[in-house]
Amino acid sequence: MKVGVLFFILIIVFSYNINCSQKISVIGTGYVGLVTGACLSSFGHKVICADIDTSKIQKLNNNIIPIYEPGLTELIAKERQENRLLFTSDIPNAIKESDIIFIAVGTPMSADGSADLTALYAVLETIGHNINSPKIICIKSTVPIGTCKSIKPFLSKIINQKLIKVVFNPEFLREGSAVQDSLHPDRIIFGGSKKAINVLQDTFISLINKNVPVITTDLTTAEMIKYAANAFLAIKLSYINEMAQFCDKIKADCGVVAQGIGLDKRIGNLFLKPGPGYGGSCFPKDSQALLNSAKKNDMPLHILKASVKVNNKQIKYIFNQLLNLMDNNLHGKTVAVLGLAFKANTDDVRYSPAIPFIKNLQKHNCIIKAYDPIASENMKHEFPDIIYSTNIYDACKNADAVVILTEWPEFANVDLSLIKDLVKTPILLDTRNIISTEILDNLEFNYTNVGNCKVK
Ligand code: UGA
Repeated sequence: MKVGVLFFILIIVFSYNINCSQKISVIGTGYVGLVTGACLSSFGHKVICADIDTSKIQKLNNNIIPIYEPGLTELIAKERQENRLLFTSDIPNAIKESDIIFIAVGTPMSADGSADLTALYAVLETIGHNINSPKIICIKSTVPIGTCKSIKPFLSKIINQKLIKVVFNPEFLREGSAVQDSLHPDRIIFGGSKKAINVLQDTFISLINKNVPVITTDLTTAEMIKYAANAFLAIKLSYINEMAQFCDKIKADCGVVAQGIGLDKRIGNLFLKPGPGYGGSCFPKDSQALLNSAKKNDMPLHILKASVKVNNKQIKYIFNQLLNLMDNNLHGKTVAVLGLAFKANTDDVRYSPAIPFIKNLQKHNCIIKAYDPIASENMKHEFPDIIYSTNIYDACKNADAVVILTEWPEFANVDLSLIKDLVKTPILLDTRNIISTEILDNLEFNYTNVGNCKVK
């Protein structure tokens, strides 16, 4: 009898898992698409990741992961071994083979600051021309408010709109911890019709069963949640960066200020590290897109506007700190730039503070010796002519000044007495507050960081 009951339970569990396994395609294999595809596969679904970039797909099929993202290589290898994860550049076939199509293509900033939706609409057209059965289109790309609502009318020019349902499922992963963030999200947001959301809830049942909070709402509200979240975080950073400037002036320690305010649960201690200003492919772009959208609706977003202004000023402020350290004489000097990625644990240099900083150095005819553990190759597209060193010490040899722009752990653990021996003059600007001020004092470096922070 007991064996019979157990068998019955096993059959239920087994068939439940089978029912839960969905046929999914993810179009776009960038940071969001690739991580989403791999994670959905790890939830037990059959996933096809598709991209028009044939060389990228070729690499993926040869187990070469085109981006640096901790844990992603291992996850993809495991999922491919389980035969749940495929890569293809045949997007029409990926569409035909799946019931749910995630779109995770880039929506970069265009010249006027608005989001460029060319790739999104190209994918939608391909869906329109290849649809063979009812599909759910789930938008992961960050899109301007109102975009998701416009998808059905757009596709109805090509197909019967009853064939598709649209859901917006915004992404909150951070580059550098994308796999962890996707497997342990703070919340899941679904915007769209109830029926479609029900299907998507099955897609994410592994997370929902772990009590990850879920919010279901309409398309426009979901779009707004994504922008409002990124804008809030950008504002928080601009706030602490401005406080850091003030702390520099009055000789208060901004690190302790951040700690002191961050212990208040209403404020929270995350996203309170002053630095060279926020960068990356999201905050600058999304802040601007939200401002654009607000302007169209005659709604000036004063606080967000101020935060963008403060961020633009922050990189100038940092550069002025270097000028001060160098007695306003940078002309022809050799500067070691440590860190090119927009933050640690990524090879991404999009909107990295290093870009305007290096441009400023070039204006002063500086010799630039740059080092980054993994982002140099990407930065070579932007600056083919600066010197790329293969390690920290090589970059610092004979430098008139050393500048830290990314918070890579290996910079924090650098041998400062060796650096002192290597450089021409012991001048150091630490824009990430990771270098021990105690050691810098002992070694008699002329240095500064952001917000007059004492660093152990
Ligand atoms: C950001 C959001 O954090 C994600 O939730 C969101 O999904 C993503 O944008 C997106 O929209 O796709 P990401 O741009 O990868 O993620 O990086 P963050 O870790 O948020 O850092 C953004 C910038 O703020 C970086 O330049 C970083 O150096 C800076 N930052 C962050 C600070 O200067 N101080 C801090 O305390 C934290």
